[in-house]
Amino acid sequence: MMNIAVLVSGGGTNLQAILESERRGENPNGKVTLVVASKPGVYALERAKNFGVKGEVVRRKDYATAEEFDAALLKVLHENNIDLVVLAGFLSVLGPSVIAAYPNRILNIHPSLIPSFCGPGFYGLRVHEAALARGVKVTGATVHFVNEVCDGGPILLQKAVEVQPGDTPEILQKRVMEQAEWKLLPKAIAMVCSGEV
Ligand code: GRF
Repeated sequence: MMNIAVLVSGGGTNLQAILESERRGENPNGKVTLVVASKPGVYALERAKNFGVKGEVVRRKDYATAEEFDAALLKVLHENNIDLVVLAGFLSVLGPSVIAAYPNRILNIHPSLIPSFCGPGFYGLRVHEAALARGVKVTGATVHFVNEVCDGGPILLQKAVEVQPGDTPEILQKRVMEQAEWKLLPKAIAMVCSGEV
């Protein structure tokens, strides 16, 4: 049974999808035992509480250096015997010491079909604004392993989503979440926990 930590920064709809999938028995080899938020008061922490999952906050600005932030993050992960780290909208950059501690054991969900619309500065609504600005007819979401290159790790799963006439960034974001993100992330987690990847 793998202990899973989900790292969040916002509303936690991906966390909700993961917890509901677990409750449906779709990940028999893993369990979310920790949620780490990059700041207090995010709704994702409420969602964790609703499922009886322990919540912690590790906030970058509480630490003088990135290295101290990474050390604090690693401490929380090690104290909770975490085997798999899932980034679900986590907006703080993970440093090399965290990435080195979890080789092929950190997953990230990105709201585009990597390598499009990814890399530094491409997060949240900005991704969908860029897709609409470029005029793509298809976008989607990607689950990839995290390495030292921002959004550059090995791709595990992708799912395409149609862009429709009149889409705003908000409408497109919701469609990508509903049709892709909330399906791909629980599936990717189950694949890693089952040893399939
Ligand atoms: C979503 O846009 C997701 O694609 C990205 O960060 C956001 C997380 O949203 N990774 P939520 O906090 O899971 O609702």
